[in-house]
Amino acid sequence: MIAIATASQKGGVGKTTLCINLSYSLAKRGWSTLLVDTDPQGGVGLSLARSTRSKLGFYDFLCGAERDLNRLVLATRLPELQILPAGQYDAAARRGWAPQDVPTRLADLLRAAELRGVDCLIMDTAAGLNAMTESVVKACDHVILPQQAEPLAVRSVPHMLETLSRFRSEGAGVKVAGILLTMVMGESKISQKVVNELRTLLPPDMMFEQNVPRLNSFLEASAMGVPVALLKRNPPPEALIFDQIAAEIEQRTGLVQDREASHSHASLLD
Ligand SMILES: Nc1ncnc2c1ncn2[C@@H]1O[C@H](COP(=O)(O)OP(=O)(O)OP(=O)(O)O)[C@@H](O)[C@H]1O
Ligand SMILES: [Mg+2]
Repeated sequence: MIAIATASQKGGVGKTTLCINLSYSLAKRGWSTLLVDTDPQGGVGLSLARSTRSKLGFYDFLCGAERDLNRLVLATRLPELQILPAGQYDAAARRGWAPQDVPTRLADLLRAAELRGVDCLIMDTAAGLNAMTESVVKACDHVILPQQAEPLAVRSVPHMLETLSRFRSEGAGVKVAGILLTMVMGESKISQKVVNELRTLLPPDMMFEQNVPRLNSFLEASAMGVPVALLKRNPPPEALIFDQIAAEIEQRTGLVQDREASHSHASLLD
């Protein structure tokens, strides 16, 4: 299993939109995908889930109110896509958790997901790098850094990369899956200038080839909490953008090699 977090110092850069659309594309490509919402304000996927049977989720697992992940995961209409909602943050916070226990609980969560047969765990995070997001990122194998194509981006990217190298020097194994340019305005000279500047400044293998354009359909789809592919009866052409990002993710995170390795372990056990 590969665990991928998304994180940004600034809010509203398109993390949740990325997580919903990418998880959907990965699931459609046959990967068993679990989308985890770690944003206390988040309502990820509740519209995607077939039932809202459980209001419990990530934070209830974290505080130990529910230790069985299988009771918390919600099915969606795509069999390969499952969701772990954020759950009852306030109740969980009242019950409390010791900050030093968070890494262990996150490791338990990842292990439980792997035992469920999850190939790809996608973790959405709250805006900014608070202590919880820091732990979530450190627990994952990879992190995707969505970056809005706006002038200050050129300053904030190096800062984010420094923070991640600090995590690694503190012992975390998390790698940067890539920087993903979001809300790119094809028509805007400023937006294009930022895209060009970042692509010149950063090593090409650090950037996703595919950008996410700013389009009303993404706004509409996220207002409904669904991937853009499910917005209309027939998926609009922009749904293909996230299929392309999913294909890049397969290569960048070693998802394909990971599946081959676990298959060969399984055949050794046969
Ligand atoms: N490519 C896009 N085109 C147009 N609108 C977008 C796009 N991506 C995101 N949005 C809109 O921008 C807003 C912020 O996006 P989103 O919620 O995905 O960001 P976020 O990083 O998760 O925010 P937060 O940090 O608050 O969790 C939402 O209203 C969303 O619909
Ligand atoms: Mg969000």
